[in-house]
Amino acid sequence: MKTLSQEQINEIKNSVDIVDVVSKYIPLNKTGKNYFGSCPFHEDKTPSLSVSPSRQMFNCFSCHRVGNVFQFLMEYENIPFIEAVKMVADMGGIDIKIDLKNTKKINNSDIYNIYDIGQKFYLNNINTSYGRQAKEYLYKRKINDDLIKEFEIGLAIKNSKALSNLLNKKEFKEKDLIDSGLIVKDENGFHDFFYDRIMFPLHDMNSKVIGYSGRIYTNIEAPKYINSKEHVLFKKGEFIYNYAKAKNECRMKNTVIIMEGFMDVIRAYSIGVKNVVATLGTAFTKEHANIIKRLGSNIIICFDGDKAGAKATMACSDILLEFNIIPKVVRLEEDLDPDEYILKYGKDKFLEKINNPISVMDFKLSYLKNNKDLTQTVDKAKYAKEAIEHLNKIDDEILREITLKKLSKETELDIDFLRSKIEKKEIIKVDKPKIVQTNKYDMAQLGLLFYMLRSGDVIKMFDNRTIYFPTKEYRMLAHEISYFYKNNNYIDESEFINDLDKDSLAIVSKIESLNLSDEYNNNLILDYFNAIEEKNINDECDRLTKLMNEETDLEKKAKLGQRILELVVRREKNVE
Ligand code: UTP
Ligand code: MN
Repeated sequence: MKTLSQEQINEIKNSVDIVDVVSKYIPLNKTGKNYFGSCPFHEDKTPSLSVSPSRQMFNCFSCHRVGNVFQFLMEYENIPFIEAVKMVADMGGIDIKIDLKNTKKINNSDIYNIYDIGQKFYLNNINTSYGRQAKEYLYKRKINDDLIKEFEIGLAIKNSKALSNLLNKKEFKEKDLIDSGLIVKDENGFHDFFYDRIMFPLHDMNSKVIGYSGRIYTNIEAPKYINSKEHVLFKKGEFIYNYAKAKNECRMKNTVIIMEGFMDVIRAYSIGVKNVVATLGTAFTKEHANIIKRLGSNIIICFDGDKAGAKATMACSDILLEFNIIPKVVRLEEDLDPDEYILKYGKDKFLEKINNPISVMDFKLSYLKNNKDLTQTVDKAKYAKEAIEHLNKIDDEILREITLKKLSKETELDIDFLRSKIEKKEIIKVDKPKIVQTNKYDMAQLGLLFYMLRSGDVIKMFDNRTIYFPTKEYRMLAHEISYFYKNNNYIDESEFINDLDKDSLAIVSKIESLNLSDEYNNNLILDYFNAIEEKNINDECDRLTKLMNEETDLEKKAKLGQRILELVVRREKNVE
């Protein structure tokens, strides 16, 4: 593999503007010199993410993530450094030939390899005579060969030792085989976890197979689907089916449709609705929300048309609302799931549904009305109460007003009365930028680092005066900055932070959150120096005082006293 030099990496970094890159993912608004948006890395209620075009960095004031364009992509796309470099090069039109396949994933590569082999095996099986019945089943469900290929659907044959035997011939560690979830070991030795099932591979965000859902296709008495058990690379509560395939389509349309099952996704895809994802039939989690919101700001929940689907829609929208996402809802008639609906009513009817989703509050109102008789006072009161509770979760004044109007009509309660029941808590609940707590000495060190990150002159002043930072982590960072400057003869913060570890990045974020002015004068820097030296003298005085108190030899005690005195004099002079 070709390795890239620091210069090439810089050239790639400078070929794009971080503002353009970040705004591909989240809407940014300009305020002053910087751009702001809501941070994709935590549950963000206010735009806490700032992106600086002059420094080519992003920084979240709330969750304290900071970085350059590479680090943004690494975090957002969940990719390693080299892939982020490749992405940026592509965006910047720089032709680099890095063979991503050869960039060895240090960790977990064996689990990936086991899945690679399993996937080849399952894919092959379905095209052999063993696969005839499975294919017939799929065809009957109108899953044709194109879809089988597109979704890499395979087959685990009846022989429950088939894959085990294959994998045991390779040199995998027993632990990895078992961790992968594909192989089970019991008193009869190794055997396959999946057998006699149609295999739907589960891909991670980078399109790598990390699990399976296996479906029965005959009349056997067994659970309809079984899923891979969880392992380091596969967590059901975070897993989203079809993420990688849907990603671009979702971002283009700025809309993502969530369904309950992957069969529904495959069916929607087959009629050209490609911005669709699904959870694994498990409850929708905060982690799901966090991942899905990256795909687009419009989220449509299109769950099964049955009661369970309606209940799940309630739960899913509540989680999304916690993230300040106001979803839209599609409800399908006759208890149909999207797969069945499309097969029964066809593409156009389904598109009409998807293109006209209802507001989450309209859905909730009709859900709450179920099993209630609004001519009865008790039910009516209960309904109004519950509706208000749900309205309180919505941070959208217009939607609130529209809903209040409806509610007032339905319950014959005065709209002002209903409105008075709305809590204004959302406005208070907003994330305030965390104020970085600093004392004078902390501030001096962070301030000095802040300007060292911006100015070679300040770094030179630091080097000349041989400033000793009292706080170890800051000291190390200062030396790294100074070292970078010595090597390059310039300082570029977004370049410098490329190699920083998480802890050092956290300090950089703290520094950036101080919101200091980019302008400085030498007096300010000298004040920082003095404060730092004062702190060093204080620490030294404390140390000597302790020694002096413990000292029994009078002569030595006096000497220590003398030294303390000298330090105090130095400190006084320093202050002047
Ligand atoms: P559904 O029961 O709605 O499945 O479960 P489906 O999508 O309609 O599938 P078909 O049409 O019967 O083949 C939705 C999701 O719940 C998970 C699966 O991920 C499925 O896609 N599930 C369901 C299981 O994990 N195990 C089961 O036994 C059933
Ligand atoms: Mn179905």
